[in-house]
Amino acid sequence: MRPYLFFIMSLVLLSGCDINESMRAKAKDGTTANAREIAANGGCMGCHATSNSVYGPAWKLVSKRYQGMPKARSILIERIKNGSYGRWDHITDGKRMPPQKGALNNEELGIVVDYILSLAKK
Ligand code: HEC
Repeated sequence: MRPYLFFIMSLVLLSGCDINESMRAKAKDGTTANAREIAANGGCMGCHATSNSVYGPAWKLVSKRYQGMPKARSILIERIKNGSYGRWDHITDGKRMPPQKGALNNEELGIVVDYILSLAKK
């Protein structure tokens, strides 16, 4: 009797929540977990990590460099979209970031950049 009950309960629970829908809602809430998820989905983590410089500069270093700069957020969003080179040569040995246009939309980019800029304070 018990296994059947468990099975029926599972069906009821599963049909009650649309997993895709709840993930989509979650992706917009701007928390650290979601910023990291968005960055991973956008392919950023193939070249970046928060604390170590992998191919691109560590996001903690980026955060430190732009602290207190009034337009840091919009500057970084544009550079990610259009690509960047020459700013981190001392760390990356001259590597370039190709334009990331299309990897993430503006809203997602905003969430990821806010997250990057917050790292210096952590
Ligand atoms: C192919 C590897 C690669 C990918 C993919 C990549 N980056 Fe980069 N990123 C780099 C490199 C290399 C630099 C350093 C460029 C320079 O020296 O100006 C960089 C620099 C940056 C900077 C600092 C820019 C500045 O002007 O100081 C930010 C912010 C950044 N990346 C965010 C992102 C985000 C967000 C994504 C995902 C949408 C991403 N990157 C994807 C390689 C990459």
